[in-house]
Amino acid sequence: MGKVYVFDHPLIQHKLTIIRDKETGTKEFRELVDEVSTLMAFEITRDLPLQEVKIQTPVCEANAKTLAGKKLGIVPILRAGIGMVDGILKLIPAAKVGHVGLYRDPATLKPVEYYVKLPSDVEERDFIVVDPMLATGGSATEAIHSLKKRGAQNIKFMCLVAAPEGVEVLQEDHPDVDIYIAALDEKLNEKGYIVPGLGDAGDRLFGTK
Ligand code: URA
Repeated sequence: MGKVYVFDHPLIQHKLTIIRDKETGTKEFRELVDEVSTLMAFEITRDLPLQEVKIQTPVCEANAKTLAGKKLGIVPILRAGIGMVDGILKLIPAAKVGHVGLYRDPATLKPVEYYVKLPSDVEERDFIVVDPMLATGGSATEAIHSLKKRGAQNIKFMCLVAAPEGVEVLQEDHPDVDIYIAALDEKLNEKGYIVPGLGDAGDRLFGTK
């Protein structure tokens, strides 16, 4: 069963409160999603492997540590996931970025993939799939399925706000995927919105309605 990590750092919680507020406009919303994504990237990279290197400081030779060069990939789910990418790249600028686009089939109501572009060395990379909202879990599950189909083996899922329903679906469908969230909300409403949530993340990020 995938673990669920809730990042309860005060800075993340403070910024998330402003993100949730309906009076927060597009510019500030976008900037804060970017900042929270950076803060979450700091936490999610906690287990990156290190290697010992020898360096020369101005004072003496020293044993020091650097990242062991693990290859990372960030995969936003279109379109709202795009709002989280730059914030993550600030901390891990060498990561490659793939994209997964899904639409909801009007007959089955199930997400269907319409666009997938991933780095060519999928099998060698660890991936972070990002979407601000984990609502029903349908898109996250399908996006992760798209990655696995193409050879990805090590995947984490990161979002700002999750509903318990979505967490359950994702854990059931992908028990090997750990879930990283800034807040676990109460429930989904009858329209599929997370309650209390923050509204439509894509519309608020891009100023559309
Ligand atoms: N997607 C959103 O953008 N918001 C929700 O509340 C649920 C899904």
